[in-house]
Parts: sequence; structure tokens; C-alpha cells
Amino acid sequence: ALVYLNGAFLPLEQAQVSVLDRGFLFGDGVYEVIPVYGGKPVELAAHFNRLDASLRGIHLINPLSRAEWRAVLRQLVNNNPDGDQTLYLQVTRGAPPARDHRFPDPATTAPTVFAQAKPLKPRDPQVLAQGAAVVLCDDVRWSRCDIKSISLVAAVLARQAAAAQGAEEALLVRDGHVTEGSTSNYFIVTSNQQLITPPRGPYLLSGITRELVMTLAQAAGLTVTERDVTVDECRAAAELWLTSSTREVLPVTRLDGAPIGDGRPGALWQKLDSCYQRYKQ
Ligand code: PDD
Repeated sequence: ALVYLNGAFLPLEQAQVSVLDRGFLFGDGVYEVIPVYGGKPVELAAHFNRLDASLRGIHLINPLSRAEWRAVLRQLVNNNPDGDQTLYLQVTRGAPPARDHRFPDPATTAPTVFAQAKPLKPRDPQVLAQGAAVVLCDDVRWSRCDIKSISLVAAVLARQAAAAQGAEEALLVRDGHVTEGSTSNYFIVTSNQQLITPPRGPYLLSGITRELVMTLAQAAGLTVTERDVTVDECRAAAELWLTSSTREVLPVTRLDGAPIGDGRPGALWQKLDSCYQRYKQ
């Protein structure tokens, strides 16, 4: 299938960028991942808003208007109109003539813009039936985790540490609080049925799925509290869920090898997951 690079649609093998690209040299760029079901992107406007916020965070002007983005994404999605997909978008500060930490002259160096549609793997039915395992990991990332930056080495190390322990995800701990997953947000259900997720701020990425799950929960008559959550509260939770564009709402039933709640996906997860499944149609 064709991908989009700097104004052109071309085969993936022909989509090449300079070794001087600041994405390659500095991780100087931002990205988005957008799920697409039956040809329809989920919460597209929210993803565009977050892309703009990320670009503002790194002092880069969005090189495409929303209408231009929509046209690019529509064409990528139309390559594969039936299957579920994810759209990957990345903008870097471009490829100036020489490596220099300081910003290049925007008059001579244009941002690099890349977008690709990929098939979205359905969630593993066994994981949905039994729940996923997660492990705790120190959050060694910077203090602008609200920017969806392509500088992902800390997330890579955490996710790999989780995989090495047979776990789906690493939950990150900063100052005794669990901020988010390496590639996801999370919710807990307390033993008295309170639904809690950490608040937006510089130490986590404000997930589009997180926002959507809060909206769906409220529409279903549930109260969601946004506040910091300790490691002990996570261990003692009746339910724990991960949320992300690719995982949707995923039940977690093991934390560092110990069961969460009764060790099975919970009733509230079931309820929110069906709300999400209905919404995304
Ligand atoms: N990850 N937190 C982090 C650190 C993330 O990387 C992600 C998404 C999320 C969830 O955001 P959303 O609900 O908007 O997908 C939270 C994407 C999927 C990725 O890196 O591939």
C-alpha cells in the first residue's frame, strides 16, 4: 500500500528520508496513532487537537491544515476501506544541511511529514477472556510526557522490560504514584466501585481513549474521579484497565505476578468495553 511522505503518495520502499533528518538525529518530532473502524477514524478532531498541542510543545507549526490532513488520511484509508486500521502520523523538524541542536531556518528547512495506514490487529480473545499481565517500572521519562514525542527510548526500555517478564505492559511509577503505562493510560476500580484515573498533567500523555472512556462512563451513569493513584491502590484495586487507541479498553488481571481483584476481568470492565464497542461502530 502507498504511504504519504512530504506531499507525495508512494510505495513504502520508496519513502525515504535523509540521515540528517532531525527525527533520526535528535528524536525531534511528534506523532499520532489513530484507530479506524470500517473506514471511520475514531475521535479524529481530538487527535488533531493533540497533534497541534504536541507541535506547540516543540515550537513547530503544523505544516498541513486540517483539510489537508483529512484529505491525506482519507486517501490512505481508502486504500483499504474494509478492514480496521491504524493511522500513524509523524512530523519532524526536517533535514537541515548539518547537525546542529538549534532550530534550522524554517525558510530553508521544511518539516518532514509522514503518514501510513496499517491493518489493526484485533485484540487477542484469550487476553480479553483472561485479562492481561502488567509489571511496575520506574518512570525515568522527562517532565513533558504530555507531548506525544517520538523520543521514546524510555518507553522502549519499559515495554521491553515488561515483555521480558511475559507482561503486556509496564505501568510507570513516579514518586510513589502510577502515572500511566509505557504506551497506554489506565483506570482502577476500587473495592467500593469508585472509578479512578490519574489527572492530566506533565507526567502523562492525555490519551484520546482515556478521555473517551471517561465520557462513556459518565454517560453510563458512573462517576470518574481524576486523582493521583498510589502503587498500593493499584495493587489493592478490584479492577484495573489499560486504555489506548490500539488496545481499546483492556482488562488487567495480574500486577507483578499477583492477581488484581479476583484475578478475572471485572463486571465494570465488561460494561465499559461494550459501551466502547458500541461507540466505535
Ligand atoms: N500510544 N500514554 C502513552 C505514553 C502512549 O504512548 C499512549 C498511546 C497513550 C494512550 O493514548 P491514546 O488513547 O490516544 O492512544 C497513553 C500509542 C498507541 C503508541 O505509542 O503506539
